[in-house]
Amino acid sequence: MRAPIAIAPVDAAAVELLASLHAASFCRPGDERWSAQAFADVLGMPGAFCLLATAPGREGPEPEPIGFCACRVAGPESELLSLGVLPTQRRAGTARQLILRSMGRCVEGGAREMYLEVAEDNPTAQMLYRSLGFFQVGRRKGYYLRLDSVKVDALTMRRDLR
Ligand SMILES: CC(C)(COP(=O)(O)OP(=O)(O)OC[C@H]1O[C@@H](n2cnc3c(N)ncnc32)[C@H](O)[C@@H]1OP(=O)(O)O)[C@@H](O)C(=O)NCCC(=O)NCCS
Repeated sequence: MRAPIAIAPVDAAAVELLASLHAASFCRPGDERWSAQAFADVLGMPGAFCLLATAPGREGPEPEPIGFCACRVAGPESELLSLGVLPTQRRAGTARQLILRSMGRCVEGGAREMYLEVAEDNPTAQMLYRSLGFFQVGRRKGYYLRLDSVKVDALTMRRDLR
């Protein structure tokens, strides 16, 4: 069994790390990448936060970053903005833990519901979100641009946090 992971909020000092985790997680051809500046912009928004998951290091005492989740609270609503787990670390419950911890922080911040957008061609993430009680409530046509200018719809999903 894998050793327990740790999850903690990070601030703007971690934007380079977050960008590298994002690039390593969103690794399909045509996936959109978030730069360090994109994470800095997100963390600069009111109500935004980012959680980092780390696992005990295999090479030494330093914990290794393995995943992240970025969210924002705006009044009674919250939004899951981005989520990624390294390919080598998947299917061990890291994303589930990141989302549950994020939902807890959003509730503490006053949110009563959470929204997210997920690409129609990303069934893995859809299964993850459905397993956590999210339901599709909308669709944004052609929201994501893939290779060769192929457009993919975004599904808007929602979950009650009360
Ligand atoms: C989606 C992603 C974050 C899942 O991370 P993860 O840590 O592997 O997910 P978890 O181990 O917490 O999975 C929790 C549940 O989600 C579902 N799930 C996750 N991966 C799945 C897969 N490959 N196939 C089927 N169900 C899956 C299962 O219900 C799983 O529970 P179970 O393992 O007890 O059956 C990860 O695959 C990833 O980073 N993908 C690329 C980036 C991305 O798509 N981000 C989301 C964009 S909206």
